[in-house]
Amino acid sequence: MLGFHRKKKLPPPACEGRLKHIAFIMDGNGRWAKKRGMPRTFGHKQGAEAMRRLVRHCGDIGIKTATVYAFSTENWSRPQEEVDTIMLILERYLDEAFTLLDVENVRYVFLGDKARLPATLREKAIELERVSREKPLTLNIALNYGARAEIVHACNALIAEGKSEITEDDLSGKLYTHESPDPDLVVRTGGDVRLSNFLLWQSAYAELCFTKTLWPDLTNDDLDEIIRDFLTRHRRFGGL
Ligand code: IPE
Ligand code: IPE
Ligand code: MG
Repeated sequence: MLGFHRKKKLPPPACEGRLKHIAFIMDGNGRWAKKRGMPRTFGHKQGAEAMRRLVRHCGDIGIKTATVYAFSTENWSRPQEEVDTIMLILERYLDEAFTLLDVENVRYVFLGDKARLPATLREKAIELERVSREKPLTLNIALNYGARAEIVHACNALIAEGKSEITEDDLSGKLYTHESPDPDLVVRTGGDVRLSNFLLWQSAYAELCFTKTLWPDLTNDDLDEIIRDFLTRHRRFGGL
């Protein structure tokens, strides 16, 4: 668990080639709002703003691919009003993404089964994927995403192709993330130390960082500090 001890300001970490893919479990929006005596949905609005800021910062420091866990297959079990508001906030996020298309350089990819999404959100997600296809930076938004459902979906796709025996590459190739490298670093805010059904296959050798900071409070400087810590780690991948 990383705490932040602010010392003198350091230059942003240079990630090019050393941190290709960062993934975020954006947790703690509800508690952030509750602390302020506000409804949980206020925390989700603030969370969306933090997401825009932090994803932009990732691009600025040379990270080519970022993934954010926006809504899990398990989050449907929340009160309908909260689910509806989250869907609306995400739709506004996509509306804004369309307007920023020329300045942002971001390719949007949605991880998860779009079929269960509200129709307007689904159509915007499909359209945003299409129009941003050629952009150099990738933002994967995990939306109605669950890693177990993803793996089952991939297996069924391989069965449908008539495969009777498969390789790791076959399976990776059918995951929603098939166009992204595996994440180098998975960051979870909000203080819980678990993965909550996020990128289980892809994170086999990811470095993990858990911070108590609530998602809307995570500053760009906090993220720089997390990344500096990541860059000092020795990733052995089973070797010496
Ligand atoms: C994460 O924040 C966002 C979603 C799961 C959609 P939470 O809503 O889980 O916030 P906490 O964990 O209850 O504070
Ligand atoms: C994980 O947060 C899912 C997202 C951030 C979208 P949760 O708040 O849903 O996770 P649990 O319920 O604490 O495991
Ligand atoms: Mg939570």
